[in-house]
Amino acid sequence: MQQVKAVVAKAKGAPVELVTINVPDPGPGEAVVKIQACGVCHTDLHYREGGINDEFPFLLGHEAAGVVEAVGADVTSVAPGDFVILNWRAVCGQCRACKRGDLQYCFATHNATQKMTLEDGTELSPALGIGAFAEKTLVAAGQCTKVDPEARPAAVGLLGCGVMAGLGAAINTGGASRGKSVAVIGCGGVGVAAIAGAALAGSSPIIAVDIDAQKLEAARGMGATHTVDSSQLDPVEEIKRICAETYDGADGADIVVEAVGRPETWKQAFYARDLAGTVVLVGVPTPDMKVPDLPLIDVFGRGGALKSSWYGDCLPDRDFPMLVDLYRQGRLDLDAFVTEEIGIDDVEAAFEKMHHGGVLRSVVVL
Ligand SMILES: NC(=O)c1ccc[n+]([C@@H]2O[C@H](COP(=O)([O-])OP(=O)(O)OC[C@H]3O[C@@H](n4cnc5c(N)ncnc54)[C@H](O)[C@@H]3O)[C@@H](O)[C@H]2O)c1
Ligand SMILES: [Zn+2]
Ligand SMILES: [Zn+2]
Repeated sequence: MQQVKAVVAKAKGAPVELVTINVPDPGPGEAVVKIQACGVCHTDLHYREGGINDEFPFLLGHEAAGVVEAVGADVTSVAPGDFVILNWRAVCGQCRACKRGDLQYCFATHNATQKMTLEDGTELSPALGIGAFAEKTLVAAGQCTKVDPEARPAAVGLLGCGVMAGLGAAINTGGASRGKSVAVIGCGGVGVAAIAGAALAGSSPIIAVDIDAQKLEAARGMGATHTVDSSQLDPVEEIKRICAETYDGADGADIVVEAVGRPETWKQAFYARDLAGTVVLVGVPTPDMKVPDLPLIDVFGRGGALKSSWYGDCLPDRDFPMLVDLYRQGRLDLDAFVTEEIGIDDVEAAFEKMHHGGVLRSVVVL
């Protein structure tokens, strides 16, 4: 066991605290990872606000890269010294989803078996089974995906959650490709990554929607061909208008990604898609949210698909090395997602900045 500094949310809505935690030595199937960088994702804020569940205290942080320090006796997939991105989809290979080949839906993904604790022994709930706003964390070995050690930790660590979720929402879940239009509502780290994914896939037009002009600027830099400030204009009408300019007869976008996680923006996505189009909900709603007044005939009559996207339907061992490769070749600008590098005691300030715009990702660097 060793003691390290870490960021913990002790109670619903209370500011996070930098405290000392106990990290057990890795047992069978586990690894201890020395964290080099961890992005601040909106989901960490959801945890702090009690929007995910009530299992306080949470050890926050889940978008990280680092170096394996030690592994359990039986671990062969990674070794001390390996540079890894942490993932929250270490598939089991045994459940019904895995056995039928749908590994991205694995019902029993692996996390560490032992618990990290506060100094007084209180067990911590690591965010998404990771907990990486910490000098070191304990994870299942399968949560460590080895990637090119030359890559910048603050940039590639973002593939561990938000950037992968956005890229995958457009490409894997939505099926973005050449000849298809894509609109993205909400251009934070996740939404802008969806735009980057649509651009990688060759989609056009790529329409970015946000209420914050700075986010729209960032979206343009990542490949958006059009931007819509939905605090000024009706996004549904604008998306339909822009798509009709490109494709004769289009009445909306082929794929609309919702990256906010609110009923009103999901409804915009629903009505902004063309007939037989696909809506992808990658934003995470809170349990109290409902979509009011949606006529069932509109669901039936428009056809297509209403999907949600957990983690961009990614398979970390397949997707992380491939995306790091594209980054190293200059084809995926992961550096552009890193707005600022911050210290481990700046997480609360980073949450605050999420409400004021201008920041795609604050990344804790250790
Ligand atoms: N599905 C997954 O696997 C997954 C993974 C990571 C994050 N998420 C979720 O994705 C969502 C976005 O995460 P993020 O880190 O990019 O958050 P963020 O706070 O960085 O970005 C949210 C963006 O939405 C914009 N926005 C807010 N209200 C809006 C509105 N009414 N219309 C248009 N835009 C609006 C904000 O201006 C901001 O740019 C969150 O709900 C987060 O929990 C999901
Ligand atoms: Zn499984
Ligand atoms: Zn996240």
